[in-house]
Amino acid sequence: MDLYCVMGNPIEHSRSPWIHSRFAELTGQRLHYGKRLIALNGFAAELKTFFLEGGLGCNVTVPFKFEAAALASQTTARATLAAASNTLSLQEGVIVADNTDGAGLVDDIQGNAGIDLSGRHLLLIGAGGAAAGVLGPLLLARPASITVANRTLAKADNQVARHGALAAQQHAELVASGLQELNRKFDIVINASSSSLSGSGVPVPAGIFKPGALAYDMMYGPAAQGFMQWALEHGAVARDGLGMLVEQAAEAFLIWRGVRPPSRQVLDELRATMQGLL
Ligand code: ATR
Repeated sequence: MDLYCVMGNPIEHSRSPWIHSRFAELTGQRLHYGKRLIALNGFAAELKTFFLEGGLGCNVTVPFKFEAAALASQTTARATLAAASNTLSLQEGVIVADNTDGAGLVDDIQGNAGIDLSGRHLLLIGAGGAAAGVLGPLLLARPASITVANRTLAKADNQVARHGALAAQQHAELVASGLQELNRKFDIVINASSSSLSGSGVPVPAGIFKPGALAYDMMYGPAAQGFMQWALEHGAVARDGLGMLVEQAAEAFLIWRGVRPPSRQVLDELRATMQGLL
């Protein structure tokens, strides 16, 4: 059977095998998708082994996304801009690195939540790997502006510089900010920081939301709850990153299999499963 997997550390709680197996069932594709726990210094060797075993593609998660992009023989435009890859595939004997995280986020916001990004004022909180992966695709959705706010201002400056040409091409204003210096209100606020994982509170001041703004946490499950609750208390509509997870997987499945799976159905099923309803 055609072989795929997700590699990361930790990997125990990954939902990707479930999602891809369901995609395969619903589209009539025959494949096996597993998960592999990779030692922190073992990614390059494990990747080689996987492709030598006949693997056709793999997803890559924390903390190997940067290494994945660097190791590949070819990188797509969006993986190059992100300097990180979550989707590797073997194409004509070489490893090609792509990044479907940003497309997943945009598809979830626009397709599943039904909120158009064009002409909107966006705040992206964080400037680490998660933020870098989505900034390019967000710009391609033609927002009026994106403010990248980060605890370490230099990292936000760096992302703004990397994406400056694309922003100009899209006629989108792109600026960097510290977390506490935010002095405008936004239509859409996306939390790409990992502050909740360290048990810290929400790192930005209240009062950043326009009435009815969308507050989106790229995490899901308990890690997203603090930000979403805080956003609700301050007049926003809150959404977690479960849809992004499913949509980035759908985009990877399309790359590998040439078929777009019914991601909306799989998202509904996954949410029901996680809530103990199925
Ligand atoms: P990831 O791949 O999840 O993005 P990362 O590259 O380590 O992980 O980036 C983590 C992001 O969360 C960074 O933007 C980080 O801010 P710094 O660049 O200043 O480190 C942000 N972050 C982590 N903990 C935070 C906290 N307690 N308050 C504010 N921002 C935090």
